[in-house]
Amino acid sequence: MDLKSIFSKSLSSCLKGSLTKDEIHSSIEVPKHTQHGDLAFPCFRLAKIERKAPSAIAEQLAASLQAPEISKVTAIGPYVNVTFDPKTVGKKIVDTILQQGSQYGSHTFGSSKTVVIDMSSPNIAKPFSMGHLRSTVIGNSLAFIANKCGYTPIRINYIGDWGTQFGKLIVAFKKWGDIDKVKENPIAELFTLYKKFHEEAATNPELEAEGRRAFKLLEDGEEEITNLWKWFRDESLQAFKKIYQLLGVEFDSYHGEAFFNDKMQEVIDQLKEKQLLETSQGAEVVRLEDKALPPCLIKKSDGATLYATRDLAAALYRQREYHFHKALYVVGQEQTIHFKQITSVLGKLGYDWADNIQHIPFGLYLKDGKKMSTRKGRVVLLEEVLLEAITMAKSNIEEKNPHLQNAEDVAKSVGVGAIIFHDLKNDRQNDIEFSLESMLTFEGETGPYIQYANARAHSILRKSGEATFTTFDGLEDAESWDIIKLLRLFPEVIEKANLASSPSYIAKYTVDLAQSFNRYYGKTRILQQDTERESRLALVNAVSIVLTEALKLLGLKAPVEM
Ligand code: ARG
Repeated sequence: MDLKSIFSKSLSSCLKGSLTKDEIHSSIEVPKHTQHGDLAFPCFRLAKIERKAPSAIAEQLAASLQAPEISKVTAIGPYVNVTFDPKTVGKKIVDTILQQGSQYGSHTFGSSKTVVIDMSSPNIAKPFSMGHLRSTVIGNSLAFIANKCGYTPIRINYIGDWGTQFGKLIVAFKKWGDIDKVKENPIAELFTLYKKFHEEAATNPELEAEGRRAFKLLEDGEEEITNLWKWFRDESLQAFKKIYQLLGVEFDSYHGEAFFNDKMQEVIDQLKEKQLLETSQGAEVVRLEDKALPPCLIKKSDGATLYATRDLAAALYRQREYHFHKALYVVGQEQTIHFKQITSVLGKLGYDWADNIQHIPFGLYLKDGKKMSTRKGRVVLLEEVLLEAITMAKSNIEEKNPHLQNAEDVAKSVGVGAIIFHDLKNDRQNDIEFSLESMLTFEGETGPYIQYANARAHSILRKSGEATFTTFDGLEDAESWDIIKLLRLFPEVIEKANLASSPSYIAKYTVDLAQSFNRYYGKTRILQQDTERESRLALVNAVSIVLTEALKLLGLKAPVEM
């Protein structure tokens, strides 16, 4: 039980029902000054109910409140303030962590339920954008968090491998392309061709029509065109997989848009049967005025299917395949309307599981305050960013710890960790200013700072020469108490991160824990031979267990030495 719950439970038994448990719990605060205690309960609300002065109520409550973990109760003005006994509370929590190890913080509320996570989903023949990076790292962390809550996560990479743009690309390749150049540098070369198509099409509108015809042929399975498409797809996937390997992300499924080509007719038939399909300017649409949404385009006038049609088919498939409890779509904010349309159409088809679909939007990476767009060439090549981060981490290590074994591996963990953490520490809805410099800083609130705190904890344990670190008899100093209060919060932080689908809760938590551990380290002679040495080492051990697990939930490695 967290400290707040201990406090609210004992308050509630004193109050005998004049406020609900939830009302009590939610009004508990952390006092501004630590000397006022660990938690405070304001009495204004009770004062109104009982028509007494808040300070009188506080006095009254303070006199009757008690719990074994609470060592001091005082009324300060309108507040009841409590101080917990660091030894009793500390022992409970540290013992639990040492016993449970990496299982600490786990929940069971998700067990035997599946969460499918649509994440990453880059488009073939186009650069892997920073937006796709966000989707990848947020989705990956949400999968770990879901798993920690008991759910079975399914990571789905819904590759963008279908759509009219491939008709254009095929036309461009046939006109101006060079096989060897594409082989050498597939994404860049295909992307150049795609851009050239748009430049030329600006003055030659016939090109657009050619592109549409080529896409139609692709949809009809014409051989030469299909082979070209397959080749573009393979080359692109290989390039993407290099990035996933660097990031340490794996997927359960790579079923992209094209996989649903032969699965769309079913949805179209259902829409017809329910009379939801209407013709509008030659195209087939589902009207969504009642939901205050623009119509959802299902089929174009030339018969070509659309992004939304494929997403509808994919949702049906996923529900059948995985019987998901929740389906998360980790996709940029700019697609909010699209996902509202998808869930509304599924709802109209009578699928009540449409309510379990959740769009998890995120903000943009901005460059100099502006959107980074692929078309305008303001792209940053993610692979280069990652490699640069690894190189920086390596030189940092060479300086600090020249004899480190497997320095290569550690540099990779640290460099990549810096990029991942830089993303996840932000609330996902916020835009992030793209700055290589701040991504690659290893000081302050960064991944390497957390990893370093954890490595430091391990190094203390190694230096102690002990074999086990499992005896904790309680500590009383202020710094260890700060740590214990944080350790206690871990399960709650995980639950919140899961509920809000927001890894930033965990990222911020690791910063707090690493900082309070560093304060402890600065102030205390942990290895000093005295009666509390064992307890201090056990606390350090508990910190490293929790930091390691928290980093893992974010998708970062936790090297034991740096
Ligand atoms: N490929 C799309 C893009 O890059 C993202 C796909 C998101 N997932 C989905 N089921 N629509 O914009």
